[in-house]
Order: sequence, then C-alpha cells, then structure tokens
Amino acid sequence: MTAQQPAPPPTSPARTAIDWPVSLATPRLTLRPVAEPDVPDVVRLWTDPEVRRHLGGPVAEDVVRARRSHCVGARGVFSVVRTADGAVLGLAVAAPDARDGRTEVSYQFLPEHWGKGYAREAVAAVVDWAGSGVRSSASGVVAVTQAANRRSRRLLEGLGATVADTFVEWGEPQVLYVFGAGVDASVTATLRVPGADGLPGMVLRPWRDDDAAALIDVYRDPLMRRWTRMPVSDRADAARWLEVRHRGWERGDYLSFAVVEQGEGALSGLVANVVVKGPRAATGVGEVGYWTAARARGRGVASRALDALTDWAFGTFGGGGLHWLHLLHQVDNAASCRVAEKTGYELNAVLPVRPPFPAPGHLHVRRRVTLGSAEKSATSNVISRPLPAR
Ligand SMILES: CC(C)(COP(=O)(O)OP(=O)(O)OC[C@H]1O[C@@H](n2cnc3c(N)ncnc32)[C@H](O)[C@@H]1OP(=O)(O)O)[C@@H](O)C(=O)NCCC(=O)NCCS
Repeated sequence: MTAQQPAPPPTSPARTAIDWPVSLATPRLTLRPVAEPDVPDVVRLWTDPEVRRHLGGPVAEDVVRARRSHCVGARGVFSVVRTADGAVLGLAVAAPDARDGRTEVSYQFLPEHWGKGYAREAVAAVVDWAGSGVRSSASGVVAVTQAANRRSRRLLEGLGATVADTFVEWGEPQVLYVFGAGVDASVTATLRVPGADGLPGMVLRPWRDDDAAALIDVYRDPLMRRWTRMPVSDRADAARWLEVRHRGWERGDYLSFAVVEQGEGALSGLVANVVVKGPRAATGVGEVGYWTAARARGRGVASRALDALTDWAFGTFGGGGLHWLHLLHQVDNAASCRVAEKTGYELNAVLPVRPPFPAPGHLHVRRRVTLGSAEKSATSNVISRPLPAR
C-alpha cells in the first residue's frame, strides 16, 4: 500500500509506458480499469478512516472532488472486482517511474473485504503483469508501506517481496519492498515413495496440464465437493485449478503434488493430491493439505504421501526456518483426523467455526525434529531430486 496518497495516475511521458486498457483475471477476481459505477466505492476508499489509517487519514473533500473527475479509466489504476458478483473490493495501482525510476504497486481494499486473501491475489496479479505491462526507466517492481502497517507488510512478505530500504516520509517511518529482487523463489521436486507391504510405489510430482481429465474425474465424488474448497466440474475449472498450482510452484509458496501410483490396472495413475503452503513463511509455520481419489482410499495413500511430503518440506525448508506444519480439518472429517494421527500430526486445538468452513475444526501440528545437523526422517526411503523449472 502506498504510504500516503496513492500515486496519481501517470501523466506524460509515462502515458506511453503502460499497456492500457488491461483486464487481469485471477481465480476469484477481475482487475479492470475503473468504471463510472465504481466511483462511490472508490470515494469510500479515499475517505474511510480505517482504510486511511496508515495512509495519512481521510482525503480532504476538495482533493476527492479533483480525483473523482479523472479516476475513471486512469492508466494503471485497476478496480478489483469479485468475479462471482461484480462487487468492487478495492483498487490496485501500478505507477511507472515512481521510485528511482522503478514501477510502484499500491493497493487499498474496503475493510469488509479484508482477511479473505483478495488483496494478496490482486497484488500478485498486478506485480506479475507490471513486469512486462509497465515499462519504467529502471527495472524492478516496488511497494512502499508504513512500518506500522503490519497487515500490509505481511501481505508483501507473503508474496516474496523483501525489504530494500527504510526511510521517513510524510512524517512516518516507511519500508520499501522489492519484488523478486533477484531471488528465484521457484522450486520443483519429484518425490518417490517405494512400494511396501503389497502396496505399489508412488511418485509425487508437480501437477501438469495433462492431468485435467483425471482431475475432473476425481471431483465427480461428492465427498471431494464436501471437503474441498475449489470444485472442478469442467475443463475451464480444471484449467483454473491447475493454474493456481503452477503459480504456486513459480512463487514457491504453494507446492502442490499430484500423487501417481505406479503399476498396472485400474488403481494406477493419479490417486491423490498433497500440498504444503507457505513453507517459507516468516512465522516458521507452514500448512499441509491433501485428498485421495475415491477409488484409492483406505489403502494408506494419503498418509504415506503426507509423510513423504512432510519429510521433504522440513528437509528442504527447515534450514530456512520452517519449524512447524499445521494440518486443519473439520471435526466431523474422521478419515482426515486419522490421517493426521497416523502421520504424527498431534491434535493441538479445536478451533471455532471459521467461514467458509461450516463446522469447528481440528488443528493438528507436527514439529520439525533435528538429529544433530540431519533432519529426522520417518520415511528415509523418500528420494527428492530437483527437476528443471517448469
Ligand atoms: C481424508 C482422505 C484424504 C483419506 O485418504 P486415504 O488415502 O483413504 O487415507 P489413508 O488410507 O492413509 O487413511 C485413512 C484412515 O481413515 C480411516 N477412515 C476412513 N473413513 C473413516 C471414517 N468414516 N471414520 C473414521 N476413520 C475413517 C481409515 O480406516 C484409515 O485409518 P486406518 O489406516 O487406521 O484404518 C480421503 O478420505 C479424502 O480424500 N477425503 C475427501 C477430501 C478430504 O477430506 N481431504 C482432507 C481435508 S482436511
């Protein structure tokens, strides 16, 4: 979030520096130029004391009047709209040549839409687009936020931005973040779980576009629709679902493996999904998730795959500070609770209902254990090897 007044819409010569008009799509959002009907929401962003808390307070009336007249269609200024119902959630702005010639991204969201990951989704899209869609005189995309704006800082750090400078501006300490400052966050891996006790071996590898048909098939199961959050009904859903996984690997913050069983017959092929989220989170806490295709349940697929994933995650990211992995499920998902128990994720707390989940949840936790310098590995037969980046 820009620390004081959001950067004004660029004027000449920057006018030619942005591909415009542009519309960006994310799994839940559409980002498009500001339209006339958005103006009341935009004005609310400029005048709401909560939104403006770290932006120098509500904008004065005469400034609002002046801004109103040129915000519609302004280059680089996106209305962030929830695709499902068209609600305007906030603004995201890319301003060329803003800080030492670099592109600055800023953002502000209406308070009723905070805490749902919308800002993160929107800012990630604008930063990605700005890399090619905005041509500033210096390379690099930056964001500035007040040091006291913890929510905004968490968002930027969650997107992999790193602190490049601190300074005082508008009488307040500010932090300048740089996106992708030469650090390649992308990661990839293939894990192998050998067969045992009559069970076939499994390979865990990043999802691929040609998994779409198998994915649609898995999601025909009503249990999957009940317990997972992003149902897949057709090719378009599958493409969106897979895109989220591809982007997660590229950003290195959502590492989702297709679990493929080796062997002959009806049970071979795609059997499960396991994911580790936020393995580099500044808190040292990541989160795991999983599902197994209906036809492959009850044979230890989820627990064996989760064990392999857990070892790999602690082995790969433990040195960088990953100390705990959380596992959350609804209290009435007994099978998932059993998977947690079997893989050493201890029940830590019963959580109250938290939308969009309709029932209370269990929080299970597994802690990284070190044996001297070596990571403890419950499944030492797991082989992890790097692959060329996608
Ligand atoms: C939860 C899920 C991933 C388990 O996958 P799986 O490959 O069958 O898991 P495993 O075989 O490793 O272990 C399942 C365990 O749950 C037990 N189980 C299965 N159904 C159960 C039920 N209704 N009540 C109690 N335990 C149950 C099994 O007996 C097994 O335990 P055991 O090895 O001690 O016999 C699978 O049911 C699923 O995909 N469900 C839909 C998606 C989902 O709920 N994901 C988790 C969201 S948090």
